[in-house]
Amino acid sequence: MEQIVTYLSAEQIAERVKALAAEIQRDYEGKRPVLVIVLKGSFVFAADLIRAIDLPSLRVDFLAVRSYEGTESSGVVQIVNDLSRPIEEEDVILVEDIVDTGLTINYLLDLLQTRKPKTLKVCALLHKPARSRVAVPIDYLGFTIEDRFVIGYGLDFGEKYRGLPFLGVLQRA
Ligand code: IMP
Repeated sequence: MEQIVTYLSAEQIAERVKALAAEIQRDYEGKRPVLVIVLKGSFVFAADLIRAIDLPSLRVDFLAVRSYEGTESSGVVQIVNDLSRPIEEEDVILVEDIVDTGLTINYLLDLLQTRKPKTLKVCALLHKPARSRVAVPIDYLGFTIEDRFVIGYGLDFGEKYRGLPFLGVLQRA
């Protein structure tokens, strides 16, 4: 039997997300940034984040990728659904749920740079430095976490648990 143990509570996440939103709002005052939300895992984080950023001309776009089978990175990133618009000369913020090995975000940064955005930054809710395989610049970071596989708040394990309102870990009971 496995049970879900809270790793970061909904309250802890909400407080940190508000702080990240305030930083983004301050840095992009008077600009029209495009938040590129990396699906599927980032949709819950992004939904809370954009509602806490008071920038009327903020825009969103979505990029769906597949990089994982179970709990291990395959190292191969597949674009399942591309952006709906060009990002040339745009101020882009890539929104990720978690930077684990860094392979996904590294691949996406290289890909988006070829489309010539004016600026390109990274906002990630979680970073697991213990498993890092490539150095990734994270401009806005929610939490640095230990080497645990976390679920909930949009993150899944085999497509399960995305709807949990908090971040948890699975533990044998
Ligand atoms: P990376 O390429 O290893 O950095 O992996 C990034 C992607 O792997 C994230 O966007 C997640 O979808 C997934 N991932 C990595 N660690 C976890 C975890 O602890 N829980 C759920 N998904 C994870």
